Amino acid sequence: MKSYLLGLDVGTGGTRAVLVSKDGAIISSATREHQPFASPHDGWAEQDPDDWWRAAAGAIRDCITKARLGGENVACIGLAGQMHGAVLLGDNNQVLRPAIIWCDQRTQEECDWLDQTVGRERLIQLTCNPALTNFTLTKLLWVRNHEPRVWQGFRSFLLPKDYIRFRLTGEHATDMADASGTLMLDVARRRWSSDIMARVGLPESCLPRVFESVEICARVSDDGARATGLRVGTPAIAGAGDQAGGAIGLGIVRPGDVSATIGTSGVVFAATDSPAMDPQGRAHTFCHAVPDRWHVMGVTQAAGLSLRWFRDLLTGSPNYQKSYQELIAEAAATPAGANGLLWAPYLMGERTPHLDARARGALVGLSASHTRGHVVRAILEGVGFSLKDTFALFDEMKVPVRSIRLGGGGARSTLWRQIQADIYGQEVEIVYAEEGAAYGSALLAGVGRGVWSSVEEACECAVHVATRVPPHPAAMDVMRRQYQIYRTLYPALKPVFARLTSNRSREMPNCPAGE
Ligand code: XUL
Repeated sequence: MKSYLLGLDVGTGGTRAVLVSKDGAIISSATREHQPFASPHDGWAEQDPDDWWRAAAGAIRDCITKARLGGENVACIGLAGQMHGAVLLGDNNQVLRPAIIWCDQRTQEECDWLDQTVGRERLIQLTCNPALTNFTLTKLLWVRNHEPRVWQGFRSFLLPKDYIRFRLTGEHATDMADASGTLMLDVARRRWSSDIMARVGLPESCLPRVFESVEICARVSDDGARATGLRVGTPAIAGAGDQAGGAIGLGIVRPGDVSATIGTSGVVFAATDSPAMDPQGRAHTFCHAVPDRWHVMGVTQAAGLSLRWFRDLLTGSPNYQKSYQELIAEAAATPAGANGLLWAPYLMGERTPHLDARARGALVGLSASHTRGHVVRAILEGVGFSLKDTFALFDEMKVPVRSIRLGGGGARSTLWRQIQADIYGQEVEIVYAEEGAAYGSALLAGVGRGVWSSVEEACECAVHVATRVPPHPAAMDVMRRQYQIYRTLYPALKPVFARLTSNRSREMPNCPAGE
């Protein structure tokens, strides 16, 4: 009987499943959308874990059916997913409240508290990272501080893809790469930090068991099989957070290998032999999905989200429907530099390099002659500039960048590929089978199942460069000058963001004018 590897990516917009053969070829794939995240207050982002499960079970079924196979043809499952989100569970593993997801920005006070209680430097020593609003621990502390009734019932938490694993297998488990983004893992030693848990007063019993990405840690249960069509007992490896999983799908495993991926967020990711740290914590230092390897990454909060936000803004107006392709075609008809227009993509605050939850988006340099195409180009370039900030930081940190592979939406659009090559000032590579984290987690499942003897071998066998895009010298020049101006935007706007935030906090919540 033929058997295949199933990779799953529980993303923000949807869950994608791919079936991969043992030579790395994609046999079928399927995606089910999620409800968009709810943002009931400025900077909040919540999703319903049941909705993820509905999408995951559906995507798995669709993917197997499309390939005209049955659950018995799946040899092993790999899970990847959006990182940092907190699914809080009670006594009987019931979900206590909507998940607070990765881009939620409500926890600045909890970050300040961690800086005071544990100490910023000590926190970096213990976890390799500073307190950031994205990280799971700050979300748990927020619930403890603001929702005492929910907190009373709290027994354990899971990361998003690990909640799907729980529904599939009944097990509480996670992997080193995803656990790195909780701020509760001793990243250098690859184990939970008892020290952190004691200092913040959380019981270690709330933590899932943590495994290396390629370890088999659970098997499909009766309930999981009924919902998905998989066979009871099918093994699942620990998998990875979407960034490490996506990096495996792009073959980023050795020092010098770097990827730039534009999904909802944007990430520049470098594999390292040891935990490489920025003393200011502007880039994340996490475990890689490769045993005994780490990675460093810089994150732009609103990368693809910038373009989606703009498209949705337009679509909201009457009689207006534009697809991404149409918008990008309009941008392609405008010159590099968008006639002096700049986009600062801080729609959800910013991580690298500013670490500022109060930062907000800005379109700077508008004139009456600018068209929609100029604005779209400015957005594509602004996202590229914010990723370039991470390359500049890697330079400071002496993290080697030998090759750059593109992933996500930024790899699929010809214009965005070229803009990135021009901004990074270096050739960029596009791989065949650019299927991101779902594909990467299928490769990890193959290693767990013994198809390949190591993650490196899996990548050598399955990941190949399809296209190389060199920079255009003239556009590169324009981008170099434009980037210098972009670098001045954040320092100039920072005091404005701070004043806007303090002004907003004085507004009456939900109070119509005149009341
Ligand atoms: C990584 C990060 C995002 C999410 C959502 O640190 O926050 O990439 O994993 O995709």
